[in-house]
Amino acid sequence: MSKQILILPGDGIGPEIMAEAVKVLEVANSKFNLGFELSFDDLGGAAYDRYGVPLADETLERARAADAILLGAVGGPKWDTIDPALRPERGLLKIRSELGLFGNLRPAILYPQLAQASTLKPEVVSGLDILIVRELTGGIYFGKPRERTTLENGERMAFDTLPYSESEVRRIAKVGFDMAMVRNKKLCSVDKANVLASSQLWREVVEEVAKDYPEVELSHMYVDNAAMQLVRAPKQFDVMVTDNMFGDILSDQASMLTGSIGMLPSASLDVNNKGMYEPCHGSAPDIAGQGIANPLATILSVSMMLRYSFAQVAAADAIEQAVSQVLDQGLRTGDILSEGCRKVGTVEMGDAVVAALKNL
Ligand code: NAI
Ligand code: MG
Repeated sequence: MSKQILILPGDGIGPEIMAEAVKVLEVANSKFNLGFELSFDDLGGAAYDRYGVPLADETLERARAADAILLGAVGGPKWDTIDPALRPERGLLKIRSELGLFGNLRPAILYPQLAQASTLKPEVVSGLDILIVRELTGGIYFGKPRERTTLENGERMAFDTLPYSESEVRRIAKVGFDMAMVRNKKLCSVDKANVLASSQLWREVVEEVAKDYPEVELSHMYVDNAAMQLVRAPKQFDVMVTDNMFGDILSDQASMLTGSIGMLPSASLDVNNKGMYEPCHGSAPDIAGQGIANPLATILSVSMMLRYSFAQVAAADAIEQAVSQVLDQGLRTGDILSEGCRKVGTVEMGDAVVAALKNL
């Protein structure tokens, strides 16, 4: 039986990085006989331009029917002035929520070849391999009410809401503990329980889930301290589990430990491990159309797809090995460039990974 992969390139650099990831996916598909069938659709601004909405019903149906989804990135200044309810980012939030993709895995791994590319001292980041588990379908990005009003005195006012239910916390905590079990049995739960009621519940529920995982060493940390510790001594962490907004911010921060956000892939999984895979970065309008974006985060997202949705461990490993070989060859996009390396564009980087993968 063939497996259906839905490709959503999105906006900005999305189509550029996706073209390279698709080349890699196609090579893996034939080399490892994966039986994948690829189809393409639009999400975000591209969907708004084509369908008038950032996520069309027919696209959502295709996403539901697919075995896995590969996404580029959405958003850009072109859509800044449209109705906020139709912004590209709303399409992304909707597909995550409609598909129940609550478990977002964001590994931040420093490739040894990139020790010079990180803005942190090599001894602080060398050997870094952490996993941020971010709750993806709850919290402040989805909470209601969320609105803008005008007060009686004419002043503008807006509010967001940060809700978490016990079951939402429980299921993401379990993902955190499960990941800790297959790694180094160390989990740090990040919250703001000294201030927020939602975080107090979060901490309580994480403690309850911990009873089922006696082997895992659990710690709790306030998010502001976690931000500090991530740059002070990131290797104290192994798996971190946190809410939607904290995870968004901390994973961008963690990306800099690895050299660039252009290196960070992600998996977003539902209860059955059906997944959507995407780089952690956005559509990078500042460099879109220039052919200089780093495609490795998206290529590594393909590897995560093979690993998590299809248990194709050999193919997933091969893609990571191909990426590592290309870095060994000294090829670097601008965001990870350091002395003595050769600067390449998006396509050349993708071609190099394809060549390495073919030769493995
Ligand atoms: P961004 O992640 O797009 O860019 C931040 C910085 O990182 C920029 O300087 C950009 O050039 C650089 N960068 C990002 N990806 C790169 C890559 N692959 N190679 C080299 N450099 C890279 O975040 P920003 O600028 O805050 O947001 C731009 C748009 O993307 C906004 O509309 C935002 O809402 C959207 N966004 C979408 C996301 C998604 O689709 N998952 C996630 C984050 C932002
Ligand atoms: Mg982000």
